[in-house]
Amino acid sequence: MRIRAAVLEEFAKPLVVQEVELAEPGPKEVLVRLVACGVCHTDMYTASGVDPSGYAPTVLGHEGAGVVERCGRDVTLLKDGDHVVTLFSPQCGECIHCASPLTNLCLAIREQQNLGYLPDGTTRLSLDGEPLRHFMGTSTFAEYTVMPEIALARIDPQAPLDRACLFACGLSTGLGAAIKTAAVREGSTCVVFGAGMVGLGAVAGARLRGAERIVCVDMSPERLELARGQGATDVMLGGDETVAKVLEMTDGFGADYTFEATGNVAVMRQAVEAVRMGWGLCTVCGVAGRGETLDIVPRLLITGRRVCGSSFGGLKGREDVPELIRRYMGGEIDVDPFISHRISLDEVNRGFELMEAQDGIRSVIEL
Ligand SMILES: NC(=O)c1ccc[n+]([C@@H]2O[C@H](COP(=O)([O-])OP(=O)(O)OC[C@H]3O[C@@H](n4cnc5c(N)ncnc54)[C@H](O)[C@@H]3O)[C@@H](O)[C@H]2O)c1
Ligand SMILES: [Zn+2]
Ligand SMILES: [Zn+2]
Repeated sequence: MRIRAAVLEEFAKPLVVQEVELAEPGPKEVLVRLVACGVCHTDMYTASGVDPSGYAPTVLGHEGAGVVERCGRDVTLLKDGDHVVTLFSPQCGECIHCASPLTNLCLAIREQQNLGYLPDGTTRLSLDGEPLRHFMGTSTFAEYTVMPEIALARIDPQAPLDRACLFACGLSTGLGAAIKTAAVREGSTCVVFGAGMVGLGAVAGARLRGAERIVCVDMSPERLELARGQGATDVMLGGDETVAKVLEMTDGFGADYTFEATGNVAVMRQAVEAVRMGWGLCTVCGVAGRGETLDIVPRLLITGRRVCGSSFGGLKGREDVPELIRRYMGGEIDVDPFISHRISLDEVNRGFELMEAQDGIRSVIEL
């Protein structure tokens, strides 16, 4: 079928919104009619050409939500009409990682997905007879996409899809980092570095876990205001004094939990140094630039501080995303303040400009 999609033809050039060809879903694949899609930094990062693992031409987009239009052969997990959120982090339910409660890094389709192919090593997308790759296995800057059934989370059909799409990436990453990876204990003190989509999600997650004190650190007063709305009890502007200020607020000990959501390795270091001895846990969510390293004084670790990373908030997508949507529908998570702009697919490049200007948290493409 012919569909409209935003194609990254060449790195560092604007996306070209045009008609492309989408083939029928193969075995265990599903055709999804996309309804909404968030614009995320990862899309822009790949478009810029700076990401060494990026590829082109490809249809970008990975924060999608939509409705199952048609199922390919042998699909058992979904049926026509199901409402779904796309998962760049799938859950096959069978590999050794899926079988373990300790990780969400499903191994089933990783290699092909990283190369931009569906699990059988081919693409369903093409332009003038030439294959177009599937970005992050999702390619949701489009009217329709074909995805493996293991990479779609079936959600409450009552949930508005223009909000649900945010659970496909940043929001779930932050929520999961606090709820699942760190499993914040009730009554604890948390410090969240960064108040973008991921950091604000971590603030909300810490609140849902019953943290007593939630400090959010960012460079933008407007974003810190949003953090208050998500449950931050204290906010502060970031800088060289941040660690000293956190120690001062915590009788010289540091926080029980810190979360890093900036992608800046100097801030990651602050997040490690601001966590308390004995049991403090620092969770790194940000993606650092290629070749960058995190500097930690080993003595901090010997005295009981721990550091871990979190990919997609440690969430097993097909199980945990529907549960987060259930909590959103129950009024526990306030999604509306994150949506700052609603744009059409044709305006996708404007979505990148808004993000670059840090204008709002998320632009949502309505398809
Ligand atoms: N681990 C994952 O699975 C995953 C998923 C999505 C995004 N990410 C990564 O998480 C990071 C955050 O993503 P986002 O969408 O929220 O980005 P964002 O750019 O919207 O937010 C980052 C925030 O950090 C703030 N910041 C910058 N320097 C700071 C400092 N010195 N102190 C305090 N705050 C500072 C900025 O003001 C900004 O508000 C990125 O690195 C992104 O690539 C990781
Ligand atoms: Zn993303
Ligand atoms: Zn798996």
